[in-house]
Amino acid sequence: MTRDGQRVRGRSRPGGADGGPGTGPAGREPGAAAGPALRTVGLSRVYGEDESMVWAVDGVDLDVPAGQTLAVTGPSGCGKSTLLHLLGGLDRPTDGEAWLGGLRIDHLGERALARLRRRAVGFVFQDHHLMHELTAAENVELPALLAGAAPRTARVRAAALLDRVGLTGRARHLPSELSGGQRQRVAIARALVNEPLVVLADEPTGNLDSAATLDILRLFAELRAGGQTLVVVTHDERVAATADRVVSMRDGTLAGDTRLDGGGSTGLGSLLGWEG
Ligand SMILES: Nc1ncnc2c1ncn2[C@@H]1O[C@H](COP(=O)(O)OP(=O)(O)OP(=O)(O)O)[C@@H](O)[C@H]1O
Ligand SMILES: [Mg+2]
Repeated sequence: MTRDGQRVRGRSRPGGADGGPGTGPAGREPGAAAGPALRTVGLSRVYGEDESMVWAVDGVDLDVPAGQTLAVTGPSGCGKSTLLHLLGGLDRPTDGEAWLGGLRIDHLGERALARLRRRAVGFVFQDHHLMHELTAAENVELPALLAGAAPRTARVRAAALLDRVGLTGRARHLPSELSGGQRQRVAIARALVNEPLVVLADEPTGNLDSAATLDILRLFAELRAGGQTLVVVTHDERVAATADRVVSMRDGTLAGDTRLDGGGSTGLGSLLGWEG
């Protein structure tokens, strides 16, 4: 099956330049920090070959301004996780461009990409992916240590973040000794420990009950208020309702793009029982 002509739909290119390959990482202009936190141009990811070929992500053009909270919705298998992985440099596109903080990342080598992920991206997964043999505090400290923080700095940062997610009393517990919601809050603390440019969350409330989901929504509301760029893949309408913007995917493409008019604060306020 040929997919010619579907890739790039004439949208604006990074940095307003012509967007050719020559733009490259040098496309970041001095002082141009105000550009989108995330940008994709004709982004595609194909799995398999021949008749088993799947266009998991198919020509996606997306800009996420710094400070925006974006929810990504769509039916199972439509490419949400694949898109999120491409945005965070966990996977490489088959075609198209992925930009993070003004830097084109789809051509970076493995080491540069790993370094970038550690420093600039905080991932939160549905099943938390905590290290089972490490305590909550150690789980949060680990990415800071890997990014080069001194042990004492990592400890202080982890303690502050666990306090922020309401888990100071559980810092010395192993993940197996925590509830699902507590584990997910540890995962969020861990995602934040290196003060990432973007937080990317894949079904972060997928395994949680309502009360735990509200805890996570409250944390996301705080991140949003603090100007954190956040992309959340979710099936949960309550989660989507707290975002600044919702994009829906279908068969690897963007099928809808809706700005929620003040919906973030209004929706969340009513969900959490906050009035006014
Ligand atoms: N490693 C892989 N190898 C082959 N196909 C894959 C792989 N990962 C994903 N796919 C396929 O790519 C498509 C998109 O998958 P993806 O996981 O991104 O969907 P999703 O929207 O996140 O779904 P869900 O809501 O169920 O998590 C699916 O058809 C899936 O089967
Ligand atoms: Mg998924």
